[in-house]
Formats: sequence, C-alpha cells, structure tokens
Amino acid sequence: MEVVILPTYEEMSRAAAEVVADQLNTKPNAVLGMATGSTPLGLYQELVRMHREEGLDFTQVTTFNLDEYVGLRPEHRQSYHYFMHENFFKLVNMSPGNIYIPSGTTSNYRSFCDWYERRIKECGGIDVQILGIGSDGHIAFNEPGSSLTSRTRLKTLAKSTIDDNARFFETPSDVPIYAITMGVGTILEARTLLLIASGKNKAQAVAAMIEGPVTSMTTASALQLHPSAIVFLDESAASDLKMRDYYDWVRKKKPDAPQV
Ligand code: F6R
Repeated sequence: MEVVILPTYEEMSRAAAEVVADQLNTKPNAVLGMATGSTPLGLYQELVRMHREEGLDFTQVTTFNLDEYVGLRPEHRQSYHYFMHENFFKLVNMSPGNIYIPSGTTSNYRSFCDWYERRIKECGGIDVQILGIGSDGHIAFNEPGSSLTSRTRLKTLAKSTIDDNARFFETPSDVPIYAITMGVGTILEARTLLLIASGKNKAQAVAAMIEGPVTSMTTASALQLHPSAIVFLDESAASDLKMRDYYDWVRKKKPDAPQV
C-alpha cells in the first residue's frame, strides 16, 4: 500500500485526480469505480477542471458507482444518482449509456446485484476504484463485520453511519437504513484502488486501515491485501499513524528508486 500524506484537502484532491487522469490518458476507455460523500468532491471538481481546461475526455469512459440508498429515487436530492449527476456527470462529457449506479428502487435486489456484478465483468473490470472511508472504517457501505469476500448486495447501515450521514438530511430519521453496495470482494478485484481521506474524524479509521490487522471489523483494512492500493491523506486524517516518518521517507526517495 502506498501512503501519500499531503498538507491540505485541496492538494490531496489534486493528487488523486492526477492518478485518474493518468489512467485516462493511457487508456481512454478505462472503467472507473466512483464514490460519493463529501471527500471525493474536490477530486471531482479537479477532474471537471481538467476536462474544461485541458481537454480530459470522458466519452469512452465507463463508470460504476459503489453504492446507493435503498428507497431513494434517482431524482431525490440525497440519492447518490443525484449527487453524481450534479457534481460530476453533467459537468463532463460522459456518454449516458456508460454510467452505472446501483438501483435503490429495484423490485428485485438479488437479481439486480447479480446483474451489476456481471456488468462490471462484461465491461472488462474496474481499472481505478475511487474510495472514501467511513469513521467506522467502512469502504462503500461494507459496515464492520462485512465479509472480506462479499459481493454486491443489500446491506443494513450501522448506527454510526446513519448518524454521520444525517448531516445531509433534514432529520436523522430521514436517513435510509438500507443500502445496496458493492462488496469488499468486488472492490478488491479492481486493478488499482485509490482511497482518499480527510479530517481528524477519519484519523482513527485510517490508522486501523493502514497499520491495524486485516479484519472485517475495519473493512478498509482489506486494502492491505491488494497489490496496487494508493491512499491519499491530508494532515489531519494522517494524524494517528505511527509509521508517518516512513511514509514520508518512501515518498521522498521514490524519484531515486530503481525502475521496476
Ligand atoms: C460513498 C461511500 C462511503 C463513503 C464514506 C465516507 O459512496 O462509499 O463509503 O466514502 O462513508 O463518506 P464522506 O466522504 O462523506 O466522509
């Protein structure tokens, strides 16, 4: 796992956007895994800027979102469909037929989840999966206790996640209790994982993910099992790391390392 600590949220977002842009420049028809929430907003803004000012092209790109709340229609302002459309898709030149987001309103969740998994494979698998991390250490909505081999499925949200996400809803009781989410096993099949985290309220979960044991109690710790995982952190999210000096040292020495 490569751990990169940058002074601010803005620098972290720009560095993460560079990884996505590099992927698109080498493979214009790349498949991207998309995350929602507050953390990737800066990354999406930077990709939009690159599209507008540098011609970064999304016409051949396919995207698969990690998750969606059960019960929210795509036009609901707190749905992840709405979030993605407003904050990214409508601002770049994506082909609408290449956008996949789990359905929060299907009549058959089991068969929808199987179809979603199949569709990812048919599109050639995910090249770069963008991830955030919950304060309980979740990736997507894989709450503590989720199997590290889990696939796309319906999941009951943890109380702490409902509390964390209540800030987006009028009252805490409006937060959906169920979500449809890619599994940890699904996520681990992406060729590159790109996790971003910002703020002191993520510091404990980040330390558990990077320096704790691999455990289903912190599903983000499954990144330790992945051969190509990059974690971008701002200073506050990195503040509980014990090996901080080493990560900085590795980064400083990277330009001089022999090419592999
Ligand atoms: C959202 C998702 C979640 C968030 C996590 C952090 O698609 O997959 O795992 O990444 O809950 O959310 P923020 O960024 O709002 O702190």
